[in-house]
Amino acid sequence: MVPLDERPVVKLDRAVIFLGPPGSGKGTQAKALAEKYGIPHLSTGDMLREHVGKGTPLGLMAKPLMEHGELVPDSVVLRMVAERIERPDCFHGFVFDGFPRTVTQAKYLGELLRRSGLRQPFVIHMIIGTSVLMKRMTGRRTCKVCGEIYNIYERRPKVEGICDIDGGELIHRPDDREEVVGPRLHAYEKQTAPLVTYYRRLGFLCDIDARKSVEEVRQDILQAVAGIRGER
Ligand code: AP5
Repeated sequence: MVPLDERPVVKLDRAVIFLGPPGSGKGTQAKALAEKYGIPHLSTGDMLREHVGKGTPLGLMAKPLMEHGELVPDSVVLRMVAERIERPDCFHGFVFDGFPRTVTQAKYLGELLRRSGLRQPFVIHMIIGTSVLMKRMTGRRTCKVCGEIYNIYERRPKVEGICDIDGGELIHRPDDREEVVGPRLHAYEKQTAPLVTYYRRLGFLCDIDARKSVEEVRQDILQAVAGIRGER
């Protein structure tokens, strides 16, 4: 059988959602999957951080909430997402990382997809215990320029503090401080974890063991996505 990596890439024509606790590897894997299928990687966390960085009214509102590990209100996130997925680069599908995060957001997304003529989403559920997450988040470093994700324990850059890809400065996210990680995990359990049952009932959910290495998880995800496309 031809290895998954060597098969010709076909259009995905679908929204893929990464669902999992903070630090479970959603961003790392969502970027790789989007790249493979040539579709946009849409991270609501990145979009919000961009607003915070630019000091827009939305950013000023979101900043204190993000710094305390709380979710930004649904109405704000939904407006931002609706505007983004209307753009032509999303016509053949996209990969969501960190959205939806509440049942209200999920219902609204279902409606948006129906209106755009896209099929219902495929949800990749990243399963991992909380003990590993603290190390992943406190060790994470992100390129200020391109957003590439590193880890001082598991995935070090060639030169400390510098991105391998574009030489950008690597930063430690303010919400990756130990005292903010607890509230973020709490917000996940309370507001986002119910989405697992929501999507499982709809039959759109695939469980992935996110404790494995980055490469093993990547292969499992490719396998799952190939399965929904009938490529196996
Ligand atoms: P967001 O940016 O979405 O953060 P998050 O969901 O908390 O997820 P993270 O980015 O922390 O982790 P990840 O799962 O992407 O892991 P990563 O791949 O980086 O949201 C931030 C904030 O914005 C929220 O708290 C909220 O305030 C707001 N927000 C965002 N979306 C919202 C929404 N829809 N509604 C309301 N508010 C919203 O990996 C983590 C580390 O582990 C990295 O260092 C990586 O190198 C390493 N790693 C990854 N995979 C592996 C592996 N398999 N083995 C070993 N190390 C690994």
